[in-house]
Amino acid sequence: MTGIDYSQKIPNNVDLKSDKRLQRALESWQPHFLDWWGAMGPTDYNANDVYLRTAVSVDAAGWAQYGYVKMPDYRWGIFLEPQQADRTIGFGDHFGEAAWQQVPGEYRNWLRRLIVTQADTEPASVEQQRLLGHTAPSLYDLRNLFQVNVEEGRHLWAMVYLLHGYFGKDGREEAEELLERRSGNPDHPRILQTFNEPCEDWLSFLCFTMFTDRDGKFQLLSLAESGFDPLARTCRFMLTEEAHHMFVGQTGVGRVIERTCQVLKDGKDPRAEGAIPMDIIQKYINFWSSSSTDLFGSEVSSNAANFFRAGLKGRAYEERQPEHLAMEGVYNLPTMGPSGITTEEIPLRNAMNEILRDEYVKDNEKGIAYWNRVCERFGNEYRFSLPHRRFHRSVGIYAGRHFDLEGNPIDEATWKANVDRWLPTAADKAYVKSLMKPCYERGKIASWIAPPAKGVNDQPSDFEYVKL
Ligand SMILES: [Fe+2]
Ligand SMILES: [Fe+2]
Repeated sequence: MTGIDYSQKIPNNVDLKSDKRLQRALESWQPHFLDWWGAMGPTDYNANDVYLRTAVSVDAAGWAQYGYVKMPDYRWGIFLEPQQADRTIGFGDHFGEAAWQQVPGEYRNWLRRLIVTQADTEPASVEQQRLLGHTAPSLYDLRNLFQVNVEEGRHLWAMVYLLHGYFGKDGREEAEELLERRSGNPDHPRILQTFNEPCEDWLSFLCFTMFTDRDGKFQLLSLAESGFDPLARTCRFMLTEEAHHMFVGQTGVGRVIERTCQVLKDGKDPRAEGAIPMDIIQKYINFWSSSSTDLFGSEVSSNAANFFRAGLKGRAYEERQPEHLAMEGVYNLPTMGPSGITTEEIPLRNAMNEILRDEYVKDNEKGIAYWNRVCERFGNEYRFSLPHRRFHRSVGIYAGRHFDLEGNPIDEATWKANVDRWLPTAADKAYVKSLMKPCYERGKIASWIAPPAKGVNDQPSDFEYVKL
């Protein structure tokens, strides 16, 4: 770190140097973070130059710079959107009051819990993806993986800044624990189940960035509305980076589909050509979208009502809502009655998780439509679909019951008779895994995915994105 201004050891736009206590706390957390990165971040390639973007400001016109960086030298920084003068709380019981610049004492525990839950997902995904550098289909994809990984690391920094800066001793303890939980570890797992699922092949990674990072988008959108202003400003900037993660997923799965379409158009068998059959792609979509749908929590939730009432977590795009108290009105929630699905009226505030999930489902549908346009382009008649939100759920009112892909209730026997057509089987996973071989020659690409339409930051798609 010689030659770097000590006050800029942690790049930031929060004037960290004028708060020595906070600066010291974060600087003593930094080596722990780097130890964690070394132990749980990407295996190998930490000594290689990777063509990465780094956030250097929050200026919309030029917030990032691109260049070769070794991952452990990535400048993980703390960047918040500029404070808006006179910002007021946009929803809930405190609607119209001045936004909080400090943690409101009465909501301290709820707020900490919201921040820790979001924060925990960031290192978790890096852990889930840590082996994927061994099997990327191209240098372009390898670089995208590492870009996502370092940015999830930066999101962890963003949240740890809030914990250290606003929650005193228990915030510092939470920040340590964020480096101690481990994805998939039965004794000390990550908080949310999707972040404990193995992500061992690239089709899973692409589905993860499509569906699980998109959950992140909607959680961030709802926290970007928070009356706790530092949280809102942090989340707004994180969304800028998050967009790329979903791009990796949407275009990545699109390229897998494109490759299969091409093979089929040539009259060949996908398996013989090392491509992935459409039905296996659909099963992966079914698994990752349903697992990620769980992340929004229970359909009827007094926690969600409390967070909304307190002005801590709003709805996505709260400003588009006709009114912001949500005291009146109901949400018509389909529930399981004795004779099938019936609709129950839920007070609006208790339905906040479901309202956020509605937006998520709509966004996912757009991704599915994009993939179907790939099929159309090749004259292929296969059409992908998003499983119904009731399908394969482990959280909420539909958990513990069985539903088909259209959301119709089915019995156990019907589920068992169909599950191998709906979710990846051991054989499907073994086949996908068998294709996972690194392809690190410039201009080459693995057999199961089409090349990208264009490169990163106007570089050619066969650019030397990682120097091996
Ligand atoms: Fe993130
Ligand atoms: Fe992300």
